[in-house]
Amino acid sequence: MIKAVRGTRDLLPPETALWNFVESAVRDVFRAYNFQEIRTPIFESTELFARGVGEETDIVSKEMYTWEDRTRLTNQQVAIVARDLPQPVQPSIPDNMVKSREHYYSQSLTLRPENTAGVVRAYIEHNLWQRGLNKLYYIGPQFRRERPQKGRYRQFYQVGAEVIGPTSSGSQRPLRDAEVLEMLDTLLRRLGIGDFTLHLNSVGDPQDRAAYNEALRKALQPVIASMCTDCQRRAVTNPLRVFDCKVPDDQPIIQSLPVISDYLGSESKEHFDNVQTFLRKAKVPFELDRRLVRGLDYYTRTAFEFTHGGLGAQNAILGGGRYDGLAELLGSKEAAPGIGFAMGEDRLILALQGRAAEVQAAPDVYIAPVGAGMNRAALALAKELRGQKLAVELGDRSYKLGKLLERASKAGARYALIVREGGSDALEYVLKNLATGEQVPVPRGELARRIQGE
Ligand code: HAM
Repeated sequence: MIKAVRGTRDLLPPETALWNFVESAVRDVFRAYNFQEIRTPIFESTELFARGVGEETDIVSKEMYTWEDRTRLTNQQVAIVARDLPQPVQPSIPDNMVKSREHYYSQSLTLRPENTAGVVRAYIEHNLWQRGLNKLYYIGPQFRRERPQKGRYRQFYQVGAEVIGPTSSGSQRPLRDAEVLEMLDTLLRRLGIGDFTLHLNSVGDPQDRAAYNEALRKALQPVIASMCTDCQRRAVTNPLRVFDCKVPDDQPIIQSLPVISDYLGSESKEHFDNVQTFLRKAKVPFELDRRLVRGLDYYTRTAFEFTHGGLGAQNAILGGGRYDGLAELLGSKEAAPGIGFAMGEDRLILALQGRAAEVQAAPDVYIAPVGAGMNRAALALAKELRGQKLAVELGDRSYKLGKLLERASKAGARYALIVREGGSDALEYVLKNLATGEQVPVPRGELARRIQGE
């Protein structure tokens, strides 16, 4: 038997009803906060994530699905490429291909492990700065080669949003941070998720980070030899990433390291104070978490995570923060500060488990045709009722009436509509309320109205 690949899974009904419920609720909330949808490709050039998310992060160094994508070039294309294109896209001829004298254009591609880098690439590529402040959201699959467990998958789904624009649009202002966080608080409550906590920190701007990195390196120097090899490398290349270490023996050392919040400059401090003041005003509860640094390199200033009490080890239901330097890092000529988040939709669904039946849409009516030739009449009737916005399930006359009624109940329909031969060539319609068992003949013209319960 061919099975779904480890870390991926099929989403089946009735659980898919829950996914649709969540997605429709989030679209409503995004609408209320004036966010618009963006859809970026599922794969991008590897360089986008290496540069954007950071080479030293777990995501880029260990978890990406990356492949070399080769296109065989015709002789004519080879001539054009050799003549016109800049060095990096000169045709590469892999060693084992030389003999065949074929030329290949090869590029490294990656299934997106997250969506922020793709959104910022699209912002630059399509000059979205011209629109001022962009409030964009996305819903879609992401891919990370992590060890699968409950709440952690290799293909998982994120609902995310990004607020990004030139400085003249006010995208760097603490009001934007507060609006995003207040929206998340509202959204989780609207979905009926209780028991969540907003953990908040500021990871400073590049100047603060330089001072902090210095302090971290200093603090790490005397202890680094006893830490894992990954940390030994990180201490040199990107000391902040030491906080991503999961090795149990390293944890006491990590706990004793200096924290970024002690190294914030006056501007970052003021920004963070403003965010907190706005949140208090908007009655959004939060906890300060001085050790929160997040596992992606692009964050500046505000960083946050929401955790959920009922989720066990994978309890981060969403994460996000500010990334004021990312657009420039990815090639934008102008600064484009931004803030955003991504919510793990799989984890959200886990937190809502048990509510699938509640949100699943059952048919309004189940048509039960009785007697020869009645399937044709039932099909035409179903079309007519569906045209009047009713959800209709169609039974087959080859089953006995008792069986059809049983199926109608199993499908969760409110009514069964028995269609059979009446007197003098006319058809008879009997509407059975499946909850009360009440059964009444109804003229055809009144069926839709009666089923709608008017
Ligand atoms: P992240 O913290 O890497 O941030 O992921 C956000 C959320 O995605 C996590 O809190 C978690 O709920 C979910 N998630 C991550 N990995 C998995 C997995 N393997 N299985 C199931 N769920 C998972 C980002 O991705 C940033 N792009 C967020 C952001 C947007 N920052 C600014 N804008």
